[in-house]
Amino acid sequence: MKTSIHISAIALLMFTAAAFVSGCGDDPSKGIGPVKEVKLDATVNEEMSNKGKAIFEQKCVSCHKWNEKLVGPALSGVTKRRKPEWIMNMILNPVEMTQKNPEAQALYNQLLVQMTFQDVTQDDARSILEYFRSMDK
Ligand code: HEC
Repeated sequence: MKTSIHISAIALLMFTAAAFVSGCGDDPSKGIGPVKEVKLDATVNEEMSNKGKAIFEQKCVSCHKWNEKLVGPALSGVTKRRKPEWIMNMILNPVEMTQKNPEAQALYNQLLVQMTFQDVTQDDARSILEYFRSMDK
């Protein structure tokens, strides 16, 4: 009887450990947040890009310029250095990103300012990504 209790306790421990490890197994190049997978068309969608530009000009230009650092980093080339999922997760979940994602953390350590969530929807973030793609073309 005692041994079987031991065995189930060990099994439970192993199960918990496995669940913990797999939970931490997220791909850091995709960042942390609601966006797991983005499918991009080869060409930029103009309509989405225009919508993204309008949102960017309303909610992001207080801290970001395209070609030079302002409060946040210059965004030129961002679609070349980051995956689309990472960019959208940064827009949607900036605080957790700077706390837990190595690349976002490095930016924070360099700039010492916390990017804040700008009350954008996932759809808005996708449009901003399309705007960034048009700028990086
Ligand atoms: C309060 C200032 C502020 C606002 C507003 C802001 N950001 Fe940021 N952003 C930052 C800072 C600072 C960083 C660097 C990470 C950190 O320190 O939080 C950053 C990082 C980023 C990055 C990563 C850049 C890279 O080189 O990888 C992206 C992408 C980004 N912001 C997009 C946006 C978008 C899109 C908006 C508008 C929805 C926005 N940000 C609004 C300050 C801001």
